[in-house]
Amino acid sequence: MNTDATIQLEDAVQLPTYAKMPIALARGEGCTVWDAEGNAYLDFYGGHCVALLGHCPPPVVQAIQQQAAELIFYSNAVYSPIRAAAAKALTDLAPEGLGHVFFCNSGAEANETALKLARTTSGKPGVLAMEGGFHGRTLGSLAATHNPKYRAPYAAVLPKTRFVPFGNLEAVEAVLTKNSNIGALIIEPIQSMAGVTEAPPSYFQGLRALCDKHDVKLIFDEVQTGVGRTGTFSICDQLGMKPDLISLAKSLGSGVPIGAVLASDAIATTVKNGDQGSTFGGGMLAMAALKATLDTIVADNLMDRAPAIFETIAEAVGPFVKGIRGKGCLIGLELDGPAKPVLSALRERGVLAGSSGNPNVIRLMPPINTPDEAIAQFADAFEAVMTAQLAES
Ligand SMILES: Cc1ncc(COP(=O)(O)O)c(C=O)c1O
Repeated sequence: MNTDATIQLEDAVQLPTYAKMPIALARGEGCTVWDAEGNAYLDFYGGHCVALLGHCPPPVVQAIQQQAAELIFYSNAVYSPIRAAAAKALTDLAPEGLGHVFFCNSGAEANETALKLARTTSGKPGVLAMEGGFHGRTLGSLAATHNPKYRAPYAAVLPKTRFVPFGNLEAVEAVLTKNSNIGALIIEPIQSMAGVTEAPPSYFQGLRALCDKHDVKLIFDEVQTGVGRTGTFSICDQLGMKPDLISLAKSLGSGVPIGAVLASDAIATTVKNGDQGSTFGGGMLAMAALKATLDTIVADNLMDRAPAIFETIAEAVGPFVKGIRGKGCLIGLELDGPAKPVLSALRERGVLAGSSGNPNVIRLMPPINTPDEAIAQFADAFEAVMTAQLAES
């Protein structure tokens, strides 16, 4: 099916919930994707921060193919060798003290689970979340998602959540002091959708101290920052503190849907049979993809490469941008003007990148195994686009 026919058919039958790029992708390998007509795109968007090892990484493809031929699925009604091995590989990489896992299927489901666990272990229903934060669109995760565009239509049925400005410790302290019913604080350690917004390690250390003081469970939504994208498996390893729960998804299965929640030893001891469940969570195909993804990251030392990729990109784009934010392979480029025309011009030159909630910020989410030639290709396209934009203005 060609691009025009694909677009026409999807638009006719799929609910119009997404703003799609006007391309139809048929194939991917490494940093490159191709449409049905064979046009190639350098992909620094990664299917929305998913393709951590690039597209179709051979060890993951092989593991999925082999697992599909053996057993595609069985639920947690039984034990499974591949689930046991994947869970071991994941908890081996988890920060110390967060070595217990619940498997699900998406980022929103991981956050739902983390919020439930925080609520049952703290015994307090209230949630504190951050302005600008994005945690998913199921009703529980949506309650902690700040953007009124997503949340407002459902406000009447959502659990009550308080929001404070990201990075402001005093605001957190004020709310926790006044509201003794808050049992969970959920935060993206780097707010990706908001435009790759960061806060210093001292802020996160302060959050940890406040949560301890007020008996609040601290949830890190690492759906975008996790799995080595920022240079360590969890970003908390760079922040000098640890949360109680970590939500993961996106990169975990190299594109096969998987979500996971890592829980502290203290939380794990309180969890009982029936507290949470998911038919497909921990299914064999997903576990094979997870195990192969993690094994590849470790065997090829890929987490160490993420900061070097950031530096190389930062150096190349520096002269053309107002600011560069983020860590490793989660990068925000702040422009002097709107990002939208730059993103379109990049796409016309065969480069995919992401927008954000900040109209002036472009997001780059390249694979952590991006080769230098691909970075050079991106840099050339970016320079050409920015030079043309400058000439026009
Ligand atoms: C930080 C963060 N949390 C949660 C989610 C929701 O993940 P999913 O779309 O897999 O439900 C997203 C999705 O973009 C996200 O960026």
